[in-house]
Amino acid sequence: MSQVRTFAAWPNRIVIGQGSAQQLPDEIRLLKGTKAFFITDEFLRRTDLVAGLVQKVEEAGIAVQVFSEISPNPLDVEVEKAAAAINDFHPDVLVAVGGGSPIDAAKAANVVATHGGVAKDYWVLAGGSAKITGPLLPLIAIPTTSGTGSEVSSGSLVTDSKLHIKMSINVWRLVPAVSIIDPLMTVSMPPKLTAFTGMDALTHAIEAYVSNVFFVPSRGLALEAIRVISRSLRKAVYDGNNLQAREDMAVGSMTAGLGFVHTLLGLVHGMAHQLSTICNFPHGLANGMVLPVVMKYNMEIDPQPYADIAAAMGVNVHGLTPREAALRGIEEVIGLSKDVGLPQRLSEAGVKEEDIQPMVERALKDSITNFNPRRSTAEDVERLYRSIF
Ligand SMILES: [Fe+2]
Repeated sequence: MSQVRTFAAWPNRIVIGQGSAQQLPDEIRLLKGTKAFFITDEFLRRTDLVAGLVQKVEEAGIAVQVFSEISPNPLDVEVEKAAAAINDFHPDVLVAVGGGSPIDAAKAANVVATHGGVAKDYWVLAGGSAKITGPLLPLIAIPTTSGTGSEVSSGSLVTDSKLHIKMSINVWRLVPAVSIIDPLMTVSMPPKLTAFTGMDALTHAIEAYVSNVFFVPSRGLALEAIRVISRSLRKAVYDGNNLQAREDMAVGSMTAGLGFVHTLLGLVHGMAHQLSTICNFPHGLANGMVLPVVMKYNMEIDPQPYADIAAAMGVNVHGLTPREAALRGIEEVIGLSKDVGLPQRLSEAGVKEEDIQPMVERALKDSITNFNPRRSTAEDVERLYRSIF
């Protein structure tokens, strides 16, 4: 008999479509909100995207405060500052607008504001999830990138500013109450950011599909996300005004998020996190560079899931063995990565030889590495980093 497991973490409401962000005041009212605390980043705060939403919410008679001191890899101190501002303002709804960073920061700030202490107290590896027992503020997430899936996930990654490690805070109740997926919020993303975040979304879908946590609906979501992302990412990068490609990427990224929230990720993310914390790589760039070598490494123990991925990416797998199909799929990922402009060597992207050893040690300790289908040794991980150095 199989073990009893609970898969609870999907949002209450998903609102999708061009212009859906304009429904924000209605969504706040549905949550009985009268005071909305926005969390975004400094760049977005200065744009019409955020200013327009704030104006619309204020016109609906809802009080607003905006907090924008969130960096690209959000820090514990920023989360704690946001939590203090939440407690000063006493909002009844949180609204996160941005890429993964403001949304992750909003989840962590929600926990610290409602439960006290500091971000580190709630770190998964320190048993922090069990401490998140009290009520949380409802969160509305509006992504402006198509990559992290944070708008539908229960996880929040916060960097410890002293130790330079990513801490994961993760309980299912951190899934946003409402996710608003509006492709118009993503059209101003420059090609590079579109490419990085898109490769992150593809990595989520692939790692969700091969994860050692098996949940049939997640596998279906992951495969469909792979299909949508691999046929739309080039179009979104080459022509940011292609609204169909933007919508496909937004929905594909969200679908990957709905998949990995239950299965979690794997060694690609375990290795990529260290490129971000030690070498300051953007998250999606790090994943995109590591993805093909980890695919190759994992397929050696079981090529079939990677053959399925190849077929979803549009490779004609007819007559191929699973191993041949899997290898073609990896070639497809490398082709996509090159076409959207990712560098192929870590040394070209600023990594130094002496960075490798600390990255190996931390990748093995990263909690997300536990969900990889193949168990890894330090020698394996070092070989993988070196193979793309
Ligand atoms: Fe990611």
